[in-house]
Amino acid sequence: MGMTELFDDAAPKDVPTVTLRRPDDWHVHLRDGAMLRAVAPFTAAQFARGIIMPNLVPPVTTVAAAAAYRERILAAMPAGADFTPLMTCYLTDATDPDEIEKGFAEKVWVAAKLYPAGATTNSHGGVRDLVALAPVLERMERIGMPALIHGESTDPSVDIFDREAVFMEQSLLPLLKRHEGLKVTIEHVTTAETVEIVRAHAPRVAGTVTPHHLVLNRTSLFQGGLRPHYYCLPVAKRERHRLALRAAVTSGDACFFIGTDTAPHLRNAKEAACGCAGVFVGATALQTYAQVFDEENALDRFEAFASLNGAAFHGLAPNAGTITLVRRPGRALAAVPVEDDEVVVFRGEEPLPWSIAG
Ligand code: NCD
Ligand code: ZN
Repeated sequence: MGMTELFDDAAPKDVPTVTLRRPDDWHVHLRDGAMLRAVAPFTAAQFARGIIMPNLVPPVTTVAAAAAYRERILAAMPAGADFTPLMTCYLTDATDPDEIEKGFAEKVWVAAKLYPAGATTNSHGGVRDLVALAPVLERMERIGMPALIHGESTDPSVDIFDREAVFMEQSLLPLLKRHEGLKVTIEHVTTAETVEIVRAHAPRVAGTVTPHHLVLNRTSLFQGGLRPHYYCLPVAKRERHRLALRAAVTSGDACFFIGTDTAPHLRNAKEAACGCAGVFVGATALQTYAQVFDEENALDRFEAFASLNGAAFHGLAPNAGTITLVRRPGRALAAVPVEDDEVVVFRGEEPLPWSIAG
């Protein structure tokens, strides 16, 4: 699909380019129905594989539901797309360890998603009691199945900007101690302190970082007025955290990899008195990551973050084939139509310094 309009096809031959093994997105919300059909092509144009989040309504809690959802995703892909959805199970207080193991053994799902109940969009059915989840986590530890954790406190009295830090101290660190062999991805890391927790527990713990948390801080949410399309959970933090995230992803450390958390919502649901959390970065993720690596003079480390570290963590081979990005100004698209509404594209109206060349 012609998703990026290049401004200057006659750019000189020496413009910087970067060619990577085809990358993977280890945290994707593709949704279902008309929304799935609208957004799936964008993720497939950027990534070879994606870990698909199970927070549908109702959530994906059974092997049968995950297998059926995988078929709907494959059916929504454009002709010629080469994209493998890697499915996940949504953990609840009632999850049966045998069902977890069955789906993993049958290669229907590759990981389980742990939402603390009420932490974010469609998470009310998530886990209330992490200690009581022990039989499930012990089984996952035994079979080598990673837990993908949304790390935010659900205590409504905790300041929203502190919820990640509080979860890490009160819940995640004790969980890592109780389950010493469990593989864990701390998803969408947003603080300098979480970066250090990931490093301290690598290689069995990894961290994903979104494109938007590398370019936004909490002030961006209010720049010139309220910016609903920058609102996601975990919410962007102070500038010092953004800088720590940029240092982490460009460090070359194997414990950090892509998880875009592309989370489309209709414009009507975002531009509302109580707008929902989630940023649609599916169409502009790689362009944004490339810009960050370029600005940090670390393009030589982009492939590790984008295409190698996540595969290694999940015990998968890197993808065959490549994708090339070029430092040539381009524009994505402002919005993706979905039935009688649309999804606003992150940075869709800005000129982007980097474009996908093919
Ligand atoms: C996600 C969504 O919309 O499903 N929203 C978000 O702000 N990131 C849920 C999530 O991953 O937290
Ligand atoms: Zn998410």
